[in-house]
This record gives sequence, structure tokens and C-alpha cells, in this order.
Amino acid sequence: MPVETVDVPVTSPYPVIVGSGLDLGRIVSNTLTPGLCAIFTDSTVGPLHAARVQGALEGAGWTVAGTIEVPSGESSKSIEAYAGTLGRLARMGLTRDAIIFALGGGVVGDLGGFVAGTYMRGVGLVMLPTSLLAMVDSAVGGKVGVDLPEGKNLVGAFVRPRLVAADLDWLATLPGREISNGLAETIKMGLLSGSDFFDDLGLVGAARTGDLDALQSLVLDSVRFKARVVAEDELEGGLRAILNYGHTVGHALEAAADYNLQHGQAVAVGMLAAASLSRKRFGRDLIDVHEDLLHAAGLPRRVPAVGAELALLAMGRDKKRSATDGAAGHRFVLLEDVGKPVRNVPVSEEEAREAIGAIVE
Ligand SMILES: NC(=O)c1ccc[n+]([C@@H]2O[C@H](COP(=O)([O-])OP(=O)(O)OC[C@H]3O[C@@H](n4cnc5c(N)ncnc54)[C@H](O)[C@@H]3O)[C@@H](O)[C@H]2O)c1
Ligand SMILES: [Zn+2]
Repeated sequence: MPVETVDVPVTSPYPVIVGSGLDLGRIVSNTLTPGLCAIFTDSTVGPLHAARVQGALEGAGWTVAGTIEVPSGESSKSIEAYAGTLGRLARMGLTRDAIIFALGGGVVGDLGGFVAGTYMRGVGLVMLPTSLLAMVDSAVGGKVGVDLPEGKNLVGAFVRPRLVAADLDWLATLPGREISNGLAETIKMGLLSGSDFFDDLGLVGAARTGDLDALQSLVLDSVRFKARVVAEDELEGGLRAILNYGHTVGHALEAAADYNLQHGQAVAVGMLAAASLSRKRFGRDLIDVHEDLLHAAGLPRRVPAVGAELALLAMGRDKKRSATDGAAGHRFVLLEDVGKPVRNVPVSEEEAREAIGAIVE
């Protein structure tokens, strides 16, 4: 399979390189002059993949000051882990001209990116996404940050990486349910995009079983789509909000399940709720289209009733927190049709209740 490059056309453009068996040393050194660096990873990905990455970098003339590992999982996206990582970089003697390689899933990318953007007012960042979700979504777009006990992603910044390199071989060690989680975001973007990307969603089943060509096509489609949206609205003033399709109900379900429901699973069911609202609002029935795609990806299509009730409560809390919603009710991204997202659609309490009713098992 040929190695493919997508350029993210923001003010300082950066390449996203996607392929299998990447020659990482050469790829990195094509964009950046070899020098001092650190590898940032987590306790699952580190033992599996960090030694080879370090070997490739050293082979290309890089000096690896050290590898920092945080415990794998969302709980590492914390102020404590952030402060601890900064301290370790300082003790390693990492200088202002150094590069941080963030090797891992979205947690490593979000935390490592925030560290890179703030250590010494910013050192260079290279994203090496190892989860499908990170490859298709979080490694591109520049959003980085950590959670607070008060809520997810409440602290952060926009930090552009210098380069993103995704080696599809890393996915061989990723658990199947994490592949499904990544596919949820890909399905979301394919539905928003329409056209050839939507047609490629026929590859979801093959991608789920680890077919590298299918994975490469879907990662490239997702990166191209997200790059286009981000290029138009990097700081999330408008268009970028369409990426929240399925996330209004999805986030509420996650909060209601006290984060025991995985993000991709929550978004899957959230998209179905949005599809049911879309049908009511615009007349186009895309529910079967959604169900077939989610089924092919191994994602759930229903939640238990008690979860739905709690989700409604969580949506109410969310609404109070957001300054712009006011009395108009909730705001949803809906689909007039495949490839025709409409954002900021006001949805009443009653309609939200009905949509959530549609996803109860
Ligand atoms: N910045 C953004 O734009 C953006 C977008 C979407 C999501 N996110 C964030 O991303 C995070 C979720 O990302 P995620 O789903 O990748 O979670 P994650 O980083 O926790 O990875 C999921 C699990 O897979 C493991 N893993 C990763 N790669 C592996 C591999 N190759 N082999 C074996 N195990 C591997 C991790 O150790 C972890 O246990 C959330 O914190 C979310 O807020 C950010
Ligand atoms: Zn998401």
C-alpha cells in the first residue's frame, strides 16, 4: 500500500502521513531537523511500540532524552499528570528547541499536546496516533488539553503539531472495541461529508476486521474531511461545530453512565437520536442507514431505559452551563440528508425526550 500524505491547510500547514510499515526516521527527518526530543506515551502503548519508535528516531540522528509514560486511560488527562510531565521534562533537561513525540491514543495526544504547547511557552509537537480514534479524529485539528474533576476538556488550548504520522500497523495491537470507537467518528464524518467518503463507509466491516486497505481509505477520508472543516474554522467559531453530530446526546449518555459507556458507543447511539430528530424535522429517513453502519462497526444502537432518563437530566445540566442556549432549548446538529448537516437547530425539551425515547432498548 502506498504511503499517503494529507496537508492540513491552516496558517502553519502540517502533513498527516498515513500508511503501513512507515519509515518513521525518514518521514520525521523530512519535515524536521534531527535534534533533542522526548517520547510521551502511556503504560499500554509504551511497552508495545515505544522502543521501535525510539530506535527509528535514533537511527535518523535524533537524541531521545527519555520516554515518559503516564497510566493509560482518561484519568491521565488531569492537571496532576500535566504538572508531573512538565516536571519530568525539566529534569530531563529538555530545551526550547526540542520536539515532543506523542505516541498513543487521544489521551496521550491531548495531554502531550498541551504539555508541548506550554512547556517553555511551547516546543515542537509530533503526533504519532496509535488508536483509530486518534488517527481519524483527535490527532488532527490542534485541540489539546486536560479534564477537571468538574468536567471533561475544561482546560486546553489550540496547538498545531508539526507533523502527524499514523502507522496502521500500530492498530494490530488495539482491542476490537477501540477499533469500533474510532469507526463511530468515521461514520459520523462520512454522514456529514456525503459523496465518495459516504460511499467508502461500505468498507467499515472490513476495517473492523483489520483490513489495512480499508483502514487506510477510511483514515484518509476522515483526515481529509476533518482537515477541510478545521481549515475553514480552526478555532471553532462556526462550521467546526458540525463535528458534534451525535455528541449532544452522546455526551449526556456518557455523563449519565458515569463514563462507563465508551465515547464511541455513546456517540453511536447519540447519532441515532439525532437521526430520529432529523427525520421529524426534515422528513428524510436515515435511520436504517445509521443502523446498518453502526451494526457493521460493532457499535450499540440502544441504551437501557434508566440510562436514557439520566441522560435527559444530564442534558438539562449541560444546557444550563452553556451561555448561548438560553430558553430556546437544546441545540443540535442534524442531517437534512447525507452530506447536508445543519447546525444550531433548536430542539425543545419534549422533542429531545422523544428522540431519546427512540434509542431506549
Ligand atoms: N483533541 C481532539 O480534537 C479530540 C477529539 C476526539 C477525542 N479526543 C479525546 O481523545 C480521548 C479518547 O481517545 P482514545 O479513544 O484514543 O483513548 P485512549 O488514548 O485512552 O486510548 C484508548 C485505549 O487504547 C489504548 N491504546 C491506544 N493505542 C493502542 C495500540 N496501538 N495498541 C494497544 N492499545 C492501544 C490506550 O492505552 C487506551 O487504553 C478522549 O480524552 C477525548 O476527549 C480529543
Ligand atoms: Zn467524539
